[in-house]
Amino acid sequence: MKAIITKAYGSVDVLSVENVDSPTIQEDEILVQVKAASINPLDWRIRSGEMKIMTGKTPPRILGSDYAGVVSKIGKNIHKYKVGDEVFGLLDIVKVKEGTYAEYVKVKENDINIKPSNSSFEEAASLPLVSLTSYQAFVNIAKAKKGNKVLINGCSGGVGSAAVQIAKALGYKTTGICSTKNVDFAKSLGADHIIDYKKENVLNRHEKYDVIFDTVGNLKFSLSKNILESKGTYVTTAVTVPAMIFSPLANIFRSKKYKLVVVKPNTEDLTRIKQMVEDEELKGQVSKIFNLQEVKEAQLMSQNGGFYGKLVLKV
Ligand SMILES: NC(=O)c1ccc[n+]([C@@H]2O[C@H](COP(=O)([O-])OP(=O)(O)OC[C@H]3O[C@@H](n4cnc5c(N)ncnc54)[C@H](OP(=O)(O)O)[C@@H]3O)[C@@H](O)[C@H]2O)c1
Repeated sequence: MKAIITKAYGSVDVLSVENVDSPTIQEDEILVQVKAASINPLDWRIRSGEMKIMTGKTPPRILGSDYAGVVSKIGKNIHKYKVGDEVFGLLDIVKVKEGTYAEYVKVKENDINIKPSNSSFEEAASLPLVSLTSYQAFVNIAKAKKGNKVLINGCSGGVGSAAVQIAKALGYKTTGICSTKNVDFAKSLGADHIIDYKKENVLNRHEKYDVIFDTVGNLKFSLSKNILESKGTYVTTAVTVPAMIFSPLANIFRSKKYKLVVVKPNTEDLTRIKQMVEDEELKGQVSKIFNLQEVKEAQLMSQNGGFYGKLVLKV
């Protein structure tokens, strides 16, 4: 099969398209022919070596955690899926060494679900990581309730564009923060209010929120707690080791909580995401599609920013 092989930590130059053997599956595994994979900042953070502490001495041989494709083979203990099923999902690339930037990937039952019937492969591949991050942040971590006021920082990015749509589907009152050029896009996702960070600082407003979801990591808890309701929760995607250790302890003594989201593959949560897509409450926001040979350009674009929604690799 063709795959993008990562030979060492470093710049995009460590990525090369090569012919390698397809994965061999075990009894509890599923082989998926990948039709599309999405680009996430996680991919180039791992590639650069920024996450060595979690990914080890050498990077995963094949990067990529999001995929959509067709079941090509099943292990003998797999009963929920059959060859030919159109599927999508997320695998934990920090643990697995063979990711989704390839023509085939092997996954476990927790990493997969049937693809929403109304999504293209590219749209479906753009959703798992960002929508599970948002869903798990709101539902599992912040335990937000219908009618809650939710602030989403970075509402035009991959996570933010999923978060705005999911927040609306779950019945929250949503305010998004983005730059001037993305205001119309954020409005089209259904945000109730938009704050253009180029023109206004959210911390200077007198509005308070039940949940702040910081997908950028620049709305520090020490400052943004002033715009949290008394029992509000701040959740960030910017995960650091000290915050992982100290925030649970500090939360015992404060009513406004500081929480981190670390997205996990979860097929039940993915069922909820699939339902939202089929109910037309959520759509993969693909802004550009690249082919495998263009992976360097795609990762550089993700690193440099300046686009909305998601970048996808067509395999
Ligand atoms: N912990 C986890 O489990 C987890 C899961 C997913 C993602 N993440 C992390 O979350 C971050 C976001 O991921 P992503 O996929 O959404 O990235 P992305 O698609 O690159 O989006 C980032 C967004 O940040 C916005 N932004 C930049 N500067 C800003 C500012 N000063 N104020 C407000 N918004 C600003 C940009 O919008 P403008 O162009 O409008 O400025 C951009 O749309 C990454 O660091 C990623 O590694 C963590």
